Amino acid sequence: MAPTIAKPLLSDLVAQTGQVPLSHVRPVEDRPDLASVDNESGAGIPLIDLRKLDGPERRTVVEAIGRACESDGFFMREWRVCVQVTNHGIPAGVVEGMLHVAREFFHLPEAERLKCYSDDPKKAIRLSTSFNVRTEKVSNWRDFLRLHCYPLQSFVDQWPSNPPSFRQVVGTYATEARALALRLLEAISESLGLERSHMVTAMGRQAQHMAVNYYPPCPQPELTYGLPGHKDPNAITLLLQDGVSGLQVQRNGRWVAVNPVPDALVINIGDQLQALSNDRYKSVLHRVIVNSESERISVPTFYCPSPDAVIAPADALVDDGHPLAYRPFTYQEYYDEFWNMGLQSASCLDRFRPG
Ligand code: OGA
Ligand code: NI
Repeated sequence: MAPTIAKPLLSDLVAQTGQVPLSHVRPVEDRPDLASVDNESGAGIPLIDLRKLDGPERRTVVEAIGRACESDGFFMREWRVCVQVTNHGIPAGVVEGMLHVAREFFHLPEAERLKCYSDDPKKAIRLSTSFNVRTEKVSNWRDFLRLHCYPLQSFVDQWPSNPPSFRQVVGTYATEARALALRLLEAISESLGLERSHMVTAMGRQAQHMAVNYYPPCPQPELTYGLPGHKDPNAITLLLQDGVSGLQVQRNGRWVAVNPVPDALVINIGDQLQALSNDRYKSVLHRVIVNSESERISVPTFYCPSPDAVIAPADALVDDGHPLAYRPFTYQEYYDEFWNMGLQSASCLDRFRPG
């Protein structure tokens, strides 16, 4: 008989057992079906070089981003937006430091890590496990630290202070990640024919959250998920992954592995950009699978509207051929709905269709 979990965190459980506990076993019809995944190193996922984004060839890069974001091209009918970018401007040392301190944090003794534990999704800084243990029936093979990080000075003093370099290293990464998110949002605005500042302005005062995801090795990866299929609720996600595969995106009904490319970041469009672009750019359905050999660390930066920002597309994106796809809503309204709904492949956006 598989064991049950007595402790909130996963990480120490792994060493103790060769079996996935029942709390983490998915029903047969809802397992990853690893044999049917397309593992051919990122088949068709665009890799965009951002080196020339801020020079005379900006237009070419903006157009490449626009093409990657456009979801209804002939060969890309069901393609949702996931790209990898290189020469993104975040210094290699900052990226390495972030991954290093993340690993150090999750290797701290459990008692030390538990000082940050909370299962309340409303808390700005917390360590937790799975997705939302308060609402879900089956847990996921993930522990995670979630940090609000913009404005940095409002939150950094509440971040973990162990490892001692944590605040400085993660603060530097968060600041760099924000600068990149802003550059991408400007390019995305331009690719839609809008003012460069459009998307950032539409997001009000803005917010930035970070997750540090820790997926320990899993004795039976075919029975569970790191994270089941979902779309990110925010505007844009910048995902840093260590060298271990696990992320998959859905394309034409098939799961495709987004294997890590050295020095690249994965950029996912989230639900708010789908709404702000009036459905021109679609948020990407993605999931995480685990493996029995190695732990995996990923660090998504979720760039978000501020809670009171009213999400509605630019007038230029609404016309007779493109009627308003969603009723205007505040990001707070959306976010509450998202956490209550639990992770599922059905888009939370459907709840905001007009009429
Ligand atoms: C997420 C997510 C992907 C990954 O945290 O929302 O999709 O590779 N993470 O960990
Ligand atoms: Ni996600």
